[in-house]
Amino acid sequence: IKQDENEIAYWTADYLIKKINDFSPTTEKPFVLGLPTGSSPIATYNELIKRYKKGDISFKNVITFNMDEYIGLPEDHPESYHFFMNEKLFKYIDIPAENIHILNSNSDNLENECIEYEQKILKYGGIDLLLGGIGMDGHIAFNEPGSSLTSRTRIKSLCYDTIQANSRFFENDASQVPTKVLTVGVGTIMDAREVLIIVSGYHKARALREVVEGSVNHMWPASILQMHQKCILVCDEPATAEL
Ligand code: GLP
Repeated sequence: IKQDENEIAYWTADYLIKKINDFSPTTEKPFVLGLPTGSSPIATYNELIKRYKKGDISFKNVITFNMDEYIGLPEDHPESYHFFMNEKLFKYIDIPAENIHILNSNSDNLENECIEYEQKILKYGGIDLLLGGIGMDGHIAFNEPGSSLTSRTRIKSLCYDTIQANSRFFENDASQVPTKVLTVGVGTIMDAREVLIIVSGYHKARALREVVEGSVNHMWPASILQMHQKCILVCDEPATAEL
């Protein structure tokens, strides 16, 4: 539990940098990093960029897999997750373009895109560390309440609550928010060797309580992380209000 968003960002970026640096010198294998979008990781991405500019970290040996993407937005739409990742992180660091993986929701065969995404993760030996956030309804990536806890990458429909929550990025107009998405599955997330989740703000307090103190329950999909072999939740004080 950290004081605020800035402390979360500092701690999380430092943790990631140590993991990547400890890993790279010992093996030829790249470090495979799962990445989220949303507001939660932005301060951490800023901190990573700062540390990269100081020379503390290189991303040349890092492979990334993003967790989700809206269906129906072109890649250059300012709210697409392709655009977000480039603007918030990738364009500032030395990661080679071919190391970046984001679900292509403009593919004309979405089911195949999902199958191939899972295969690509396996080809790189699985995700070493997955960074994530949770939604107010307990979703993880875009695995909304009711998602199978063993699900794989697939097409999902967003719940009313998530469409409302994300309308803040679409001129507060819920009708502009795509209703369908591609997302890695809960099972895909559980297969990561380590999971690091950022939870910030009082608006996440109920979700955090359900996820940490509630039963493992598909109506709060992130609660399955209680069963993960190595999961760390990095929270700020307001998010812990209901614990
Ligand atoms: C978004 C994303 C998730 C994210 C979550 C929380 O819609 N698809 O990957 O973790 O919802 O978002 P935020 O960090 O903005 O609260």
